[in-house]
Amino acid sequence: MLLKQKEFASMLSKVKMVLLYIVYFFQFGKIELPVYFYKNYFIGNRKKIYFSQKVTVPEKCYLSPLELFVGENTWLGVNSFICGKVKIGSNVMVGPNVAITGANHNIEKADVPMINSGITVKGIIIEDDVWIGANAVVLDGTTIKRGAVIGAGCVVTKDIPEYAVVVGNPAKIIKYRNHDCSVTV
Ligand SMILES: CC(C)(COP(=O)(O)OP(=O)(O)OC[C@H]1O[C@@H](n2cnc3c(N)ncnc32)[C@H](O)[C@@H]1OP(=O)(O)O)[C@@H](O)C(=O)NCCC(=O)NCCS
Repeated sequence: MLLKQKEFASMLSKVKMVLLYIVYFFQFGKIELPVYFYKNYFIGNRKKIYFSQKVTVPEKCYLSPLELFVGENTWLGVNSFICGKVKIGSNVMVGPNVAITGANHNIEKADVPMINSGITVKGIIIEDDVWIGANAVVLDGTTIKRGAVIGAGCVVTKDIPEYAVVVGNPAKIIKYRNHDCSVTV
């Protein structure tokens, strides 16, 4: 009896997964389940979003990208904000209240309201195994290379090298992580 209940529960969860996949298949550019969605998030422009397996979209995450790719097992950050063109790798941890702004409003013409001046998009790349601390801001046109750590409250204005640990505004390198340390996921 207990076994049958377990089999039924497992079948039900498989059916749920298939139904979800069908809904998401039509909503998103590409999505590989499972993807974990918490409550109260906002996701716009879904057709331009590509989620790999085990991505987490936590509470109050606000995604309004022109194009967004997120790699496997990446956590997007409570109350984080992503806009413009952004590519995030696998095993990336985004802390709370992080802004990843892959676009800029044009500001050259002072006689035109900036809201009507259009935007410039260079794009942001965040490679695999990066940790971005709470309240950091990542500006357009930057690449954060594999294994880097972005300290809490950083403003990233330039490319960050592999395994660098950076802090401050603008972000500056304080040290490098041990390249020999093994990565366990
Ligand atoms: C970047 C970080 C990982 C560095 O940790 P650490 O290797 O233990 O570094 P230390 O604490 O030894 O600090 C080294 C120096 O950098 C400074 N520093 C560390 N973090 C800083 C930060 N976020 N902003 C400014 N300065 C910072 C320290 O004051 C210290 O300066 P000093 O040498 O003049 O005394 C850590 O400080 C950090 O910011 N973690 C993010 C935590 C977070 O946001 N968690 C959210 C959950 S995901």
